[in-house]
Formats: sequence, structure tokens, C-alpha cells
Amino acid sequence: MVIGVPKEIKDQESRVSCTPASVNQFVHEGHTVYVETKAGLESGFTDEQYRDAGATILEKAEDVWAKADMIYKVKEPIASEYKYFREDLIIYTYLHLAADAPLTKELVDKKCVGIAFETVQVGRALPLLKPMSEVAGRMAVQEGAKYLTKPQGGKGVLLQGVPGVPPAHVVILGAGVVGTAATRIAVGMGARVTVLDVNIDRLGEVADIFLDKIETLYSNNFNIAKVVKDADLVVSTILIPGHKAPQLISEEMVKTMEPGSVIVDVAIDQGGSTDLTAGRPTTHSNPVFVEHGVVHYAVANIPGAVAKTATQALSNATTRYGVAIANMGWKAACKRFPELAPGVNTAEGYVTYAPVAEDLGYELKKVEDLIG
Ligand SMILES: NC(=O)c1ccc[n+]([C@@H]2O[C@H](COP(=O)([O-])OP(=O)(O)OC[C@H]3O[C@@H](n4cnc5c(N)ncnc54)[C@H](O)[C@@H]3O)[C@@H](O)[C@H]2O)c1
Repeated sequence: MVIGVPKEIKDQESRVSCTPASVNQFVHEGHTVYVETKAGLESGFTDEQYRDAGATILEKAEDVWAKADMIYKVKEPIASEYKYFREDLIIYTYLHLAADAPLTKELVDKKCVGIAFETVQVGRALPLLKPMSEVAGRMAVQEGAKYLTKPQGGKGVLLQGVPGVPPAHVVILGAGVVGTAATRIAVGMGARVTVLDVNIDRLGEVADIFLDKIETLYSNNFNIAKVVKDADLVVSTILIPGHKAPQLISEEMVKTMEPGSVIVDVAIDQGGSTDLTAGRPTTHSNPVFVEHGVVHYAVANIPGAVAKTATQALSNATTRYGVAIANMGWKAACKRFPELAPGVNTAEGYVTYAPVAEDLGYELKKVEDLIG
């Protein structure tokens, strides 16, 4: 198979889908890999290193897309890349389609096979979302701490406090991978931390990890309103896999917060989990906006800021399935690795992933019906 690795062009997206080591794995299995020039530079990988690993470097994105049977990238294609779509082209990347009707329409109309990292699923676990969630959760608190400072528009609070002055209150909504990573950093920085989830087993697990360093609370509208009002920093990390995020933090709740408080909406890539961030993602160039005196951070590609770490973590997780798709074709790969099947969100002119079909009003075609 011919694999194409384009340079990411989303705002300040510095990651690349695969490291030279990953390229070498594809080449070792007999595949051809085209890498767009400078695709890995911001993650610390030069064209020379990709060449040494067996890739061919191409100057133009359009050539990478045109030659490839499978495009292997990081973020969802943006509008200027839609012109490269064509029938049966496999696009293996993060897609977040429930929050992106125009991209879904393009993939369906052009009959592309859209395989979304974030919906590959083993039991309840999302193994190709996990590495970036680990990064985003850690970054969310780091960024939140920064925006709590006066020069960044915050109320001027230090997370840890000092002797005689209490620490900041960090509220973490969702105790999954992002939530646990955020809790780890918030606890490590000495904040007072409250974690909410609807999954009581998950709350039990975080309580076992962090013991008396955190409080846990069942997530419902009443409890969210109560803790958000008192929070210095809110990190929202909720996910209902594949679906558009529900808006659990209302505008009314934001109005009750002290001016200069900060909300980091990590769930923005699934459409946003607060009234004010929904449909209003920010970028690394312009990461925050202020509403009702509260600083809102809603960057949809948080790990892009720490590209060197994130690229290696992502490549480690995604290469295995990428090589399987290249070796067997996507249909046989889904049979061999059933966890890959829910990753297929579009194929042969259909939406093939139920949550996306439900949220965007498409008729669902089951992947199983296509792979036989
Ligand atoms: N912005 C970014 O750069 C970035 C990077 C990585 C991940 N993400 C996003 O972060 C989100 C979380 O990812 P994850 O890997 O932690 O997912 P996860 O499935 O591990 O965790 C999500 C948690 O949310 C909980 N939840 C669901 N409904 C809830 C509710 N009503 N109240 C409280 N908790 C609720 C679930 O029970 C689960 O524990 C996803 O939307 C993911 O796409 C964003």
C-alpha cells in the first residue's frame, strides 16, 4: 500500500502522525511511504531522518494526497484539504465527525473511508485517544494555572497557595483519561481538587489513586452548579464516546463564578461541553476569550503545543493499526482486529458509526454489512 503523511496545517498544529521509526515499520512490511517535506520538523524529526527510515520526501501536499492509498495524519482534514478527497481513499486520523457536519458530508459524498482514531474501542477503552488524553489532561491544568495569573487575565491566584493562604479550588468534570491526568497535575501542584463523574466506579478508582488528596462528587446539574460557583479553575473532560458533547456548564453557572476564574474545556473537540464554548473553539494563537469575567480556554488540539512528546505518544499507539490496514486492507484489518471496526466512521458513501449517524441525521450502514 502507498501511505501518505502530509504536514499538518491546522493552526499551530506541530505534531506529525508518525515518527521515522513508524515509517520504518511500514517500509519493513513492504509498503511505500511518502512524507511531505518538513512534516516532522516541529516534532523534532528532519526530512533526512524520514529518508533514512525509508520514506520518499515530496515537496507538495497535493502530491502526497494524490499518490496515497491511505493518508495517515493527526487532525481532521480542514476545508482546504477537502479537494484531495476521492473514492476509496483511506483517511486514518482524528476525525471528531459528530461535531463536524461539513467534513462528514465531504467524506460521504466523495466515498472516502474515514477511520477515526478516537472511536477505535477495546471494551470501554479508547486506545488511540488515550495517549493524547494523557497529554491534554496534564496540559489543561498547566494552562489553567497560567491563565489564573493576573498578566494573563486571571484573578491572580497561585494553585498551591502558600502557608497561611489556602490553595486554589480545581474542579474536574469527568474522571476518565483526561480527568485523571488533570487530577494528577492539580494534586501535584497542591490545589484543592474536586472530581465529578456519572460513573461511580470511575470515581472509586480515582479516589483509590489519590486517596484523601481529592474529593469526589456524583455529577448532576445540582452538584455541578454548586462546585463551579466556588471553583477557581474548572477543567471539563467529559465524553460520551462518538457523540457531540452535552453542555453541562450553563451560562447561568458561569455568571456565578468569581471574575478571573478559568474554564478549560478539553471536550471542545467533540463540540464543547459548556454553553459558552460550544461551537466556539479557540486556537493556540488565540487560546482564550472572556465572558462574564471568566477566562475560557477551548483549544481543540491542546497536545499540538507539546508536539515532541505528543507525536511520539501518538505514533506509538496508532502505527500498529496503520500497519494492519496497510497489510490487509481496511476490511480484513477490521475482521482481524474487531476494535478497529468502530473506528470506521464513513465508507462507500455511508456513515458507518452509530453516534455520528444519530447526531448528524444520517442513515446508518453497519460496518459489518460492508466488510461481510
Ligand atoms: N482538546 C484537546 O486537545 C483534546 C485532547 C485529547 C482529548 N480530548 C477530549 O477530551 C475528552 C475526554 O477524553 P477522555 O479520553 O478522558 O475520555 P474518557 O472516556 O476516558 O473519559 C470521559 C469521562 O467523562 C465521563 N462523563 C460522561 N458524562 C458525564 C457527565 N454528565 N458528567 C461527568 N462526567 C461524565 C465518563 O463517565 C468518563 O469517565 C474527549 O472529548 C476527548 O476527545 C481533547
